[in-house]
Amino acid sequence: MTLAHNRIEVMHGVNLDQLGRRDPAVYGTLTLTELERRVEQRAEALGLRTTFFHSNHEGEFVERLHALREEADAILLNPGAWTHYAWSIHDALDSLNIPLVEVHLSNPDEREDWRKVSVIRDVVSARFVGQGADGYRLGLEYLKENA
Ligand code: DQA
Repeated sequence: MTLAHNRIEVMHGVNLDQLGRRDPAVYGTLTLTELERRVEQRAEALGLRTTFFHSNHEGEFVERLHALREEADAILLNPGAWTHYAWSIHDALDSLNIPLVEVHLSNPDEREDWRKVSVIRDVVSARFVGQGADGYRLGLEYLKENA
C-alpha cells in the first residue's frame, strides 16, 4: 500500500447528513459539517489531504467510488445502514486497489442483530467502531502508519 499523493476521500452514506439531529445519545451532537471540519484538521496535522463526499443515493455513492480509482489514494468510509446490506458498495470497493478503512460512530456489533453484519468487512484493511468522531482520527492515523 502507498499514499502516493496523500489524498484521502472521507465518505458518508445514507442518513449521515442527519447527524446532530439524529439520536445524539448514539451518534453524538456534531453535525456532518462539523465532523468533516474536525477530520480535515486532524488530517492536515498528519500531512494528509482530505476530500469529502456524502450521498443518500446508493447509485451516486457507487459512481463516486468508481471515480475515486483515479482521484484518491485511500478511502475512509462510513456507509451508514448500507454497511449492513449493500453488496453493490462491497463490489465497487473490492474493485479498487487502494487502502480502505471502515468507520462507525456507534458500535454496530453491540446493537441490533441486523447491524452486526458488515458486508464490507472483508474488503477493508481496518475498522474503527464505537469511538465517535475519534474513530476517524484513528482511521487517519492507521492510514498514515500502514498505507
Ligand atoms: C452507523 C451505524 C449504522 O448501523 C447506522 O445505520 C448508521 C450510522 C454509525 O456510524 O454508527 O447510519 O454507520
